[in-house]
Amino acid sequence: MTDTIQAAIQYAHHHKEESIEGFMKLLSFASISADPAYKKDVRACAEWIVAELKRIGFENCQVINTDGHPVVYADWLHAGDDKPTVLVYDHYDVQPVDPLPLWNSEPFTAEIREGKLYARGATDNKAGVWGNLKVFEAMLAANGTLPLNIKFFIEGEEESGSPSMEPFVAAHKDLLKADVLLNCDGGYDPKNPEIYYAGRGIISAEVKVTGPKADLHSGQYGGVVQNPLHVAGKIIGSFHDAAGRVQIPGYHDAVASVDAAEQERIQAGWQAEKMKTEAGVELSWGSTIASDAERATVYPTLDINGIWGGYQGPGSKTIIPAEASFKVTMRLVPHQNPHEIAQAFKKYVESFATETVKVTVKIGEEAYPFAMDTDSIYMDAVQQALESTLGKRAKLVRAGGSIPILGMFNRLIGVPMTGFGYGEGENIHSPNEYVVIDTFFDALEAGIRLYHNLAETKK
Ligand code: BES
Ligand code: MN
Repeated sequence: MTDTIQAAIQYAHHHKEESIEGFMKLLSFASISADPAYKKDVRACAEWIVAELKRIGFENCQVINTDGHPVVYADWLHAGDDKPTVLVYDHYDVQPVDPLPLWNSEPFTAEIREGKLYARGATDNKAGVWGNLKVFEAMLAANGTLPLNIKFFIEGEEESGSPSMEPFVAAHKDLLKADVLLNCDGGYDPKNPEIYYAGRGIISAEVKVTGPKADLHSGQYGGVVQNPLHVAGKIIGSFHDAAGRVQIPGYHDAVASVDAAEQERIQAGWQAEKMKTEAGVELSWGSTIASDAERATVYPTLDINGIWGGYQGPGSKTIIPAEASFKVTMRLVPHQNPHEIAQAFKKYVESFATETVKVTVKIGEEAYPFAMDTDSIYMDAVQQALESTLGKRAKLVRAGGSIPILGMFNRLIGVPMTGFGYGEGENIHSPNEYVVIDTFFDALEAGIRLYHNLAETKK
């Protein structure tokens, strides 16, 4: 067994150059799921990954159509019934790239600078896609076999809230059946290894405020026509009280209190300095409500992500704009129901309509929070792999971010879950996203060990 592990590790290390080349090719697909203009690029990326999976010896390699972007599925199921089946999860779609001028190189032409590979998706989450693919390739090429059964499931719409994944998961329960789900949408931090064991839910919405039938002269009409931008500002200004708590009626009704053990875990997993350094500002918003670690994980939020309307060119323009819009996301915690909260939000925002101003709310994705059992043989398998590779175990971290599909697996399938990531990097969702090249290969080593550990988990 140690021989097979060593053989696979050696294979991974001996094929670095072609590995990086393939990674750069994967990063060249503009698989932006949120923007319909990139629909073809998303599909092309899925098709390329399927070809790679075929090449390394996976079977049933498919691009499966959904109501939205396609899913990539492939498996290798020859380890026998006494070995577990692991459903490995990644997503191949990425976030939009704007603001483009802030990138130091093209987001979809990966560039290596000082040992870092810069491109959109380099860490989130193409490092996960490529890491797993390279690990499976190394094990198959070096040993002709895998130590366990693998179903590899790669989503194409995680970064846009997984709108078609709930019906997809519900309709493919058999295909996705496994002993454990391994979430590889996360990072690899050799200094402070972490495992994300929980994350928040999310609702997105777009609000449009419309007034006069066209932009009006602000001299002629100022004082007699209500300005839609003012109403938008009033709505936005009303979302939080002075302390920073969301004040939509009913918003907090279902929020669960956190027990002492969980509070301790959240505190222990909180990386105060790292968070502050990355933000470049104090983490003081809402500080009277609860600790920073809790506010960033087990308290719900509401944020405006973008706002537009009226004149934004040079100089001034004297108008009362005809309309104003803004985008919102809310992060949800146990046991908030995204559908109920979405309706409460809609009702509250629409109540700002007046005789001359219409307010419409379009709800986008609605996703539940997710949680994993922190004390399982599967978590141990990850911990032991990290310990063998890095000499230390991971902190269990409750994430503030969301992975919509994991909440669906929690509710629809109830499969045990654990997590492991391949990319050490920064600037995810931001300009100049990168992954560190050297530690990516260390992560492959940990990945190879992980699958061998997971192979021993069948009761
Ligand atoms: N990989 C992230 C989620 C994540 C980030 C987990 C940081 C743990 C720590 C994932 O790709 C992501 O960004 N999800 C989106 C989902 C949304 C667009 C529905 C998020 O959380 O914003
Ligand atoms: Mn992301």
